[in-house]
Amino acid sequence: MWDKLKDHHKSVADRRFETMLDTARAEDFSARAGDMLFDYSKTNIDPTARDLLIELLEVTGVAQKRDAMFSGVAINETEGRAVLHTALRNLDGDPILLDGDDVMPEVQATLDRMSTFATAIRDGSYVGQGGKITDVVNVGIGGSDLGPAMAVQALAPYHDGPRCHFVSNVDPADIAGVLRACDPKTTLVIVASKTFTTIETMTNARTAQAWMAQKVSDTGAQFAALSTAADKTAAFGIDASRVFGFEDWVGGRYSMWGPIGLSLMIAIGPDAFRAFLRGGQAMDQHFKAAEWHENLPALLALVGVWHNQVCGHATRAVLPYDNLLGRLPAYLQQLEMESNGKGVSMDGADLPVNSGPVVWGEPGTNGQHAFYQLIHQGTRVIPCEFLVAARGHEDDLHHQHQLLVANCLAQSEALMRGRDLDEARDKVSDKFSGEELERQARHRVFPGNRPSVTIAYPKLDPFVLGQIIALYEHRVFVEGVILGINSYDQWGVELGKELATALQPVVEGAQDTAGKDGSTAALVDFLQKNGV
Ligand code: F6P
Repeated sequence: MWDKLKDHHKSVADRRFETMLDTARAEDFSARAGDMLFDYSKTNIDPTARDLLIELLEVTGVAQKRDAMFSGVAINETEGRAVLHTALRNLDGDPILLDGDDVMPEVQATLDRMSTFATAIRDGSYVGQGGKITDVVNVGIGGSDLGPAMAVQALAPYHDGPRCHFVSNVDPADIAGVLRACDPKTTLVIVASKTFTTIETMTNARTAQAWMAQKVSDTGAQFAALSTAADKTAAFGIDASRVFGFEDWVGGRYSMWGPIGLSLMIAIGPDAFRAFLRGGQAMDQHFKAAEWHENLPALLALVGVWHNQVCGHATRAVLPYDNLLGRLPAYLQQLEMESNGKGVSMDGADLPVNSGPVVWGEPGTNGQHAFYQLIHQGTRVIPCEFLVAARGHEDDLHHQHQLLVANCLAQSEALMRGRDLDEARDKVSDKFSGEELERQARHRVFPGNRPSVTIAYPKLDPFVLGQIIALYEHRVFVEGVILGINSYDQWGVELGKELATALQPVVEGAQDTAGKDGSTAALVDFLQKNGV
């Protein structure tokens, strides 16, 4: 399959895809899920390429594996776990059996407990030592931080609860900055950690505990925990009534739909949180039911595979023309790179193609004034993914929103069309002539023929955010199945953690640098001489 796809790519690589782009193609190479539009017509994917890519879905058994995932089969084979984050947004409560037991009653009970607690925090019936809770500090990292942090920002227009803050980095500057702005007597600290062992989170949680103890006698009452490890939350001193548990079949980077989303629920309220879940559920239903050529997660994955594994473009830029999605690229970096950054397939063999791409990006229009230069004229092709809302939340500033939309559309058009040498000459022929005209014109040439896709939606509300996040989750799943890898483990983060633990006493000076490589020893020496 890979050879066929690569051969086809070779045969069309020099084609300017703009020449294929009439209205029929725009219709044919786009798809909808509810009110959401996915346009991939500004790529070099033609009907032959699409057929071959869809064949890839068939030969790798994506449909069967999708059904296995939704029904609780342990598709996370290296950890022997099911992958059932979709159960957290299964609002209809249809049974999902795991080893013969329905997981839904527990999921619904936890969601109800979260709702009761969030409501009590929001309406002031649950108070801190100094009265109504004014600030919530979520202490977590990776999947226990990025999802809720991204979503709290994305849904800021719906935010009517206490202020929410996020502490993730073990760098003390992070927690010190956040706590400085809070009053310990009216702050709720949420310790979010699936394992309750992550060193950064546990260190920050203890720092927060000590900070609160200076002013609050019963600190435990102003702590909540989100974790799978009830024994460890109890040992930390958090009463079971404020512990919201989940099971190991929810992966960290897929966990914002359940207890890990508590800070989001407190910020926007249980009803809006359920609307977010409904958006995710709607995308699940679409993913299960839509034909491949109309299936957004499958198409988004196939475009990704075409650009990365077939065309060889190593990165993809995520460019939300929606300032509220400012943290989406960071969130997707974990979702995509921790899931699909693997070099061996499920059976332990080397991958025959590249692993998942480097994902990066920033909101537009800011990026236009920073790195778009390289996207337009650099020597490497960077496939771009634009996200844009038809409407913003500032009705009185709609005209300004239209300018934002125009910029988004202009960028994908510019990437495709480019500007050839003749046009570039015309631009400056009134200022230069002869050899200087040639030289100046060359700097103004845009190669064009650079691919992009656009995800467009009416407005970024909780439902739409749920659709977007579930879309990307399933895209990662499909790409992982095509590559034959396990998207649900993360062994690649282990080595650094082990070495950091071993290095801590060396940095502190309790152990010498014997056995360390020359570079590490010299760095320790420099930092110690400078006061570490
Ligand atoms: O760094 C790896 C990782 O395990 C992520 O997968 C996870 O989201 C993060 O650490 C935090 O883990 P925990 O929620 O257990 O603290």
